[in-house]
Parts: sequence; C-alpha cells; structure tokens
Amino acid sequence: MELSNRIKAVAPSATIAVTAKAKQMMADGIDVVSFGAGEPDLDTPDFIKAAAKAALDAGDTKYTPATAGKLKAAIAEKLKRENGLDYSGEQILVTFGGKHALYNAFQVLLDSGDQVMLPCPCWVSYAEQVKLAGGKCAFLPAGPERAFKIHPDDMLDHGVYSKAMVINNPANPTGVTYTPAELKAIAEAILETDLIVLSDEIYEKLIYGDTEFVSFASLDERLAERTLIFNGLSKTFSMTGWRLGWVAGPANVIKAMATLMSHQTTNPVSFAQAGALAAYLDPAAAPAVEAMRVEFDKRRRHMYQRLCAIEGVTCIEPTGAFYCFPDVSAHYGRSFGGIEVTGSLEFANAALEVAKVALVPGAAFGEDRCVRLAFATSMDQIDKGLDRLAKMLKG
Ligand SMILES: Cc1ncc(COP(=O)(O)O)c(C=O)c1O
Repeated sequence: MELSNRIKAVAPSATIAVTAKAKQMMADGIDVVSFGAGEPDLDTPDFIKAAAKAALDAGDTKYTPATAGKLKAAIAEKLKRENGLDYSGEQILVTFGGKHALYNAFQVLLDSGDQVMLPCPCWVSYAEQVKLAGGKCAFLPAGPERAFKIHPDDMLDHGVYSKAMVINNPANPTGVTYTPAELKAIAEAILETDLIVLSDEIYEKLIYGDTEFVSFASLDERLAERTLIFNGLSKTFSMTGWRLGWVAGPANVIKAMATLMSHQTTNPVSFAQAGALAAYLDPAAAPAVEAMRVEFDKRRRHMYQRLCAIEGVTCIEPTGAFYCFPDVSAHYGRSFGGIEVTGSLEFANAALEVAKVALVPGAAFGEDRCVRLAFATSMDQIDKGLDRLAKMLKG
C-alpha cells in the first residue's frame, strides 16, 4: 500500500527504537544494561494509583468532557502556587501526555512552510512534529562547546523568519538547565520579535544542586500572551504509562487544540485523570516527588563522576532531567568487536553488541559527538553498565 508523503518524511523515534532493541535482546535472554529509556524506573506513588482505582470502582469509566474541570482547576492552582502564574480553565488543556500536547500545538499554530527554531541538540520529536504540521525547522547550534545552551544573539538571524521557538528547560538530552538570568536574557530578545514560545517544562521537578527553576512565562508579564507551557505527569510523578500531560496558554490556541482533540482522541482517560488529580492535590505528593528527586540526584552524581573517569569521554555535569550526554567522539575511528565506529550510531551499536549496554546515539538529537545515557535506573545497573562500557573503551 502506498504511504503518504507526509509520513514518509518522518523518522521513527530513535529513543524508542533503541529501547525496543534492548528489550528484545533481554527477552532473548541477553543480559543488557539499559540506559536508553527516557522514563523513571520508579513506580507511580501508591496514593495516585489508589485514586485511579477508586475512580474505576466508582464507575468513572465514560468519555470525559473536553473541559475536564477539576483537573484543570488543580493545574491552574499548581501554576499559581509553584510558578506564580495566573491561568483560568479555558487557558489549560489536558492531553495524552506532553508529546500529544506539543504535536497538537504545532498542528494548530503552523501553516505550510512556517519556520520553528529549535536549539540543537534537542528532543527527538520536536523536528518530526514540526514536519508533520507542514512546518520547517531552523536549528540553533548549542553543542558541548557552548555548554548546550543558546544565547540571545543566536536567535537574531532566524528570529525574523520564524513563527515559533521551542525552549526545553531542563533539557533532554543534555540534562542542562538555564539559570533565571540566562532565560531572562533570552526572553528579552524574544520580546523584540513576534515569536511564539513553546516552553517545554516537563522536567521541571527534576533539578539538582543549587539549580533554580523558573517557568518561562513568569519572567515578564508580556510573555504569557505569546507562550505555551507544556508539562505533564510522566516524569514528575513517574506516570509515563498513564499518558497524561497538559498545556497552558492563550485561550484561542487552547480552544483550537481542544477542537482538534475532539476529532482525534476525545479526551484523556477518565480514571487516569482521577490519579492526576490526586497527584496535584494530595499532600502526599510533595514528599513523594522529593524522594524521587533525591534518588535521581544520587544516581546523577555517580554516573557523571564515573563517566568523567573514562578516558576519551568528556561530560558536562547535568543539573536537570535524568540524562548524561557525554562527548565520546575521541573514540571515533576505533573499532570494537569488528564494528567500525565513525559516529554516535555506530558507537551505540558497538555498546549494545559488544558491552551489552543500551544508550541513545546523539545523532538522533542532532549532536553526533555525544551519546545519551539515562540515569533513571538503579545504582547497581549504573555501575554494571559503566564497568562494561569502560572495559570496551579500554580494550
Ligand atoms: C523533552 C520532552 N518533552 C516531552 C516529552 C513527552 O513526555 P510525555 O508525552 O510522556 O508527557 C518527553 C518525553 O520523553 C521529553 O523528554
């Protein structure tokens, strides 16, 4: 059957592909250490599960209204309490994960040929989602030599020709976070333009050391009318499988996204929303999130230190999310187990085949010198995987 040109232009998600290959090897009985997955290994807190179970038992099993009133009110309260932002129900939409919210935002914002600026390296789905909406991407280079961050001047050239820009803070795949001052400088440059900002804040709660998180729209009162905030429950509450995210922004965009969703999926799962409500309202949430963050912080420091100790590997210390994104290009040109390593794809292939370690090639994120390792796995697995990787690279 002939496929549409639209889908033929789209690359499958490399992060999901590597995880699937590692899972298949594990299913075949091979002892693989996986640093591939972009999801917490920890379980969803019990009080959230209990709320969803109670909703099921109470017969909360029907279509949900587009308004999803109580959950939106809880999200509005979270935005007020934690981010100092005022949003009403018609400025918030609950979706099937942050990915769905971003996809639909590009669909309602972009016309054919509209350009979106993406600081690069960046999460795999932005560029494909822009393409699927008929848009095109302008990549703003933010490689390791720039500590994976863009600066206000970087936007000047493309800013004139672009309709929108994505800011992902804390960032996947690099694990870096912008300081409030850095973000403010970017915000000031944006206010000189007509750019719409898609601020992906999904890793908001996973920050380490003295890192401070500020929501982009809170930096200046003029930003709210041109910013869409994306967030969700996957990473904060370890709820990746629940598929719940949300977007907050100008009411006309939210209304358009709700219209699109009404023909596309109807609204998110009824009892999952009950779990989300507990996640935002139950006093048990804050200590549960903090316990997860503390655990990730321990793993982060350990993985970072161990990576830095491997010859030919340089790493910028992650301050957010749960990823290290080391530069391994000093090993390009070598051969491991008969695999000639010329870039991050072959490096990841060699790591999987030779060391039985799954990691994600940086090429998938637009930075071929690096590979991504998620530290959302146990300390034992981190040690085991890095022992193997170090041995392979030494060999
Ligand atoms: C930067 C970023 N944004 C959005 C998402 C989407 O997450 P979800 O659809 O599970 O809410 C992810 C997931 O990996 C991500 O890394």
